[in-house]
Amino acid sequence: MSVLRSVVTGVGGYLPPDVVTNEDLSRVVDTTDDWIRERTGIRQRHRASDDQAVSDLAVEAARQALEAAGRTAADIDLIIVATTTADLTFPATAAIVQRKLGCPIGIAFDVQAVCSGFVYAMSVADGFVARGHAKCALVIGAETMTRLMDWTDRGTCVLFGDGAGAVVMEPLEGQGTTADRGLLGFALRCDGTKQDLLYVDGGPSTTGTVGKLRMQGNHVFKHAVVNISEAVIAAAKAAGVEVSDVDWFIPHQANERILKGVANRLGIDEHKVIQTVGDHANTSAASIPLALAHGVADGRIKTGDLLLMEAMGGGLTWGACVVRL
Ligand code: UT7
Repeated sequence: MSVLRSVVTGVGGYLPPDVVTNEDLSRVVDTTDDWIRERTGIRQRHRASDDQAVSDLAVEAARQALEAAGRTAADIDLIIVATTTADLTFPATAAIVQRKLGCPIGIAFDVQAVCSGFVYAMSVADGFVARGHAKCALVIGAETMTRLMDWTDRGTCVLFGDGAGAVVMEPLEGQGTTADRGLLGFALRCDGTKQDLLYVDGGPSTTGTVGKLRMQGNHVFKHAVVNISEAVIAAAKAAGVEVSDVDWFIPHQANERILKGVANRLGIDEHKVIQTVGDHANTSAASIPLALAHGVADGRIKTGDLLLMEAMGGGLTWGACVVRL
């Protein structure tokens, strides 16, 4: 049976050039390179310059994804940006990206699901592309998380970085089997009762300020390792595949111990895990597309490979999706 699938046809990533090492941070807060590496696997993170807004990072990643797909800005009729660090309260960063890229009038909006944002955005884009409502979509995860840091809180400020990753998604006829290219299945979750574990203490309709990130890291850690596995299994079931069929596991890059813990729980071989947390730290919604772009650029991830992406973040939100590239 012929079905329309939303297929990833190009991937791109962008990291701002300014690198901040653990050593650099040890001069700002009471921390050490040893503690950060041992507890998180993070060695460094990238930081956007003062004149770079999140839309600028998004545009760079989008340009790369367009080039990889053999498309131009003129082809784009849908832009979804997953971000929690928008340029402005409104308009949506997606609208700003549309203007900066010079895309024609089309659909553009942001998705706010924090670190799970890219998985949510892919699933939302699938609703347009695989139903014939968009012919060429840009799905972008972009963040300037360093702007949300309380630089006196060593429990959070060492964990995050800035960056952007993007994919182009286009409709392609498939046979309705798991051999089809495209987004094959997803599972999304949110438990709003766990807000206090990870949130930003400001916003336009409460404090009128941007606010700073607050996290009870060890509680989030436990939640992540336990609950992500359930969503991964549900996404694999929705896709009609086994977790063991997956070629590449592309987890949200928050902490090496979390991504290894989830992979172990699921029986996924360590060699199948794409890991960038050491160099990028936690870039929230950008971390999965950045890791994907990294795996594609170094030649490990190839067209036709079965990918499993998963994430968890503020909300708490979490989720997973299965994509054949
Ligand atoms: O992307 C959204 C999802 N977020 C996450 O997935 C993050 C999840 N959480 C984590 O990754 C980990 O919980 C952390 C890396 C945040 C913390 O690691 P932990 O092993 O859970 O440490 P902890 O919070 O239990 O703290 C252990 C100790 C504490 O000292 P005491 O009370 O034992 O004396 C902290 O004060 O480590 C101390 N500590 C630090 N020490 C040096 C906390 N941060 C630092 C630091 N440098 N940067």
